Amino acid sequence: MCGIVGYTGKRRAVFILLEALERLEYRGYDSSGVALLEGGQIFVDKKVGKIRELIKSLWGKELNATTGIGHTRWATHGGVCELNAHPHTDGEGRFALVHNGIIENYRELKEYLISRGVKYVSETDTEAIVHLISLNYEGDLLKAVLKVLPMLKGAYAFAVISSMEPNRIVGVRYGSPLVVGLGEGENFLASDIPALLPFTKKVIPLEDGEIADITPDGVSIYDFEGNLKVKESITVQWDLLSAEKGGFKHFMLKEIFEQPRVVADTIKGYISRDYELPFSLKDFRRIVITACGTSYHAGLIGKYWLERFVGIPVEVSYASELRYSDTPIGEGDLVIAISQSGETADTRFSALSAKEKGAVLLSIVNVMGSALSRESDYTLYTHAGPEIGVAATKTFTCQLAVLFSLAISAHPERENLINQLLKVPNLMEEVLSKAEGIKEVALNYSQRKNLLYLGRYLSYPVALEGALKLKEISYIHAEGYPAGEMKHGPIALIDQHMPVVVVAPRDRVYEKILSNIEEVLARKGIVISVGFEGDENLKKLSKDFIEIPQVAEELTPFLTVLPLQLFAYYIADYLGLDVDQPRNLAKTVTVE
Ligand code: G6P
Repeated sequence: MCGIVGYTGKRRAVFILLEALERLEYRGYDSSGVALLEGGQIFVDKKVGKIRELIKSLWGKELNATTGIGHTRWATHGGVCELNAHPHTDGEGRFALVHNGIIENYRELKEYLISRGVKYVSETDTEAIVHLISLNYEGDLLKAVLKVLPMLKGAYAFAVISSMEPNRIVGVRYGSPLVVGLGEGENFLASDIPALLPFTKKVIPLEDGEIADITPDGVSIYDFEGNLKVKESITVQWDLLSAEKGGFKHFMLKEIFEQPRVVADTIKGYISRDYELPFSLKDFRRIVITACGTSYHAGLIGKYWLERFVGIPVEVSYASELRYSDTPIGEGDLVIAISQSGETADTRFSALSAKEKGAVLLSIVNVMGSALSRESDYTLYTHAGPEIGVAATKTFTCQLAVLFSLAISAHPERENLINQLLKVPNLMEEVLSKAEGIKEVALNYSQRKNLLYLGRYLSYPVALEGALKLKEISYIHAEGYPAGEMKHGPIALIDQHMPVVVVAPRDRVYEKILSNIEEVLARKGIVISVGFEGDENLKKLSKDFIEIPQVAEELTPFLTVLPLQLFAYYIADYLGLDVDQPRNLAKTVTVE
């Protein structure tokens, strides 16, 4: 989705806005722009392409403004062009506005505005907001915003400045994230915390239905009726380095290599002897997991663990499907919503509707203060630090760490299982130490157009995740499938041109998956397998065999997923693709 930033203080706003925008670029990267308040006028510059295009355009310009807003776009309404890029203005240079989200009733608003004589120049929904503010302005920006809010339908966050009110930004959150950053004699706004890390760690994440009125000397938060609210700030634990590449070519690679450390950090929080859940899982009649993308795959693995160690039925739903389904849900159900960002609209709204019907809502979230964490009855945090690469990696294994700890929390064998879990980070380190070998294997397949990923039991969701990683960043078609289901369809695709990645650790279904490999080979498919070191069977059957150290059956996903992340990474990088910002994708999806 789009990223928005705002600054008001004593420093030259342009530098701060550009740095913050670069840190938000993972949220959207088809065009960008800034609006700066200078000498009672608003200067706007916007460019199609990456933020470096905007930087080139601004280079060398004397821009001394100390207040401004900026935007990086992920197009929803209207094509990618300068006219549709943000900031949008009212045409008279009195107001400029940046927006993330969707104004669902913008067509009616646009008709109304045109009937009032407004010149509507872009194809965006956003432009409606700035014209409405302009029409309703009577000398006070906050009052104009308050008048306009009841007219807007949809989910949005926006920030607006006015040439008539220097040193003031008004920001609004309703469904899309917005965080206020607090400084000394300066204050900030941003869609996400990583954008603020170079400037401040003191933040106020806004809640839906809140407005921030920001000047260099203070921040006031209001509700949509204009009532002043008292809000506490929080201090973010993430450091600046954690949001930088630290010598790696891409954030994704750095994040893959961070996994042993962040998984260890996450485990630490949940394994102490006296760690107790605030409820008993056994008291629920059922658990429903709701999530999207990679978080959904973590949920699928969580299902196996929860059913095995807690013994109650678990359903896992794509959040976008659960939301509009007739699944009976309510009292007696525990809903677990898994989300790195804690802002994904589908996940939030599916979880909230279950909560409204009486279910208890537990979330597993990476971002402190995010919407989902506030809306949940209980939140368990992953301690992955900021994840910048659009393709999720370290947050996946951290979600697994939380899910496993949760599943075993009341199990009689807990101590023993914890001891096994504690070995995982070192074993992950061992897998990663063989990255060069995995790269060699991966590059053999960089020119393929299709790959099939197979796994059974706990390795089935890993196969799904491996396929997702490959298609997301390399644009090669890849499909994950339960190996046992292959004979009901995908087997028709197999011939000498089809590489099949098989995830086959020695677990309860090992013999079964060997038979599936034979079925692939009988049709001349090319097998790339991931299995335990020293597995001669697998080695013989595979064209390429990627070894992982032996680990307890239940814990295999922590290790088997790593070669698949690297496999996708090395192919995408070899193809010269933009690994961290793959086309058409966004890190945090705040539209349904
Ligand atoms: C987007 C991202 C994925 C992520 C999914 C769910 O599609 O590109 O990497 O898995 O959203 O995000 P969440 O923040 O809810 O885990």
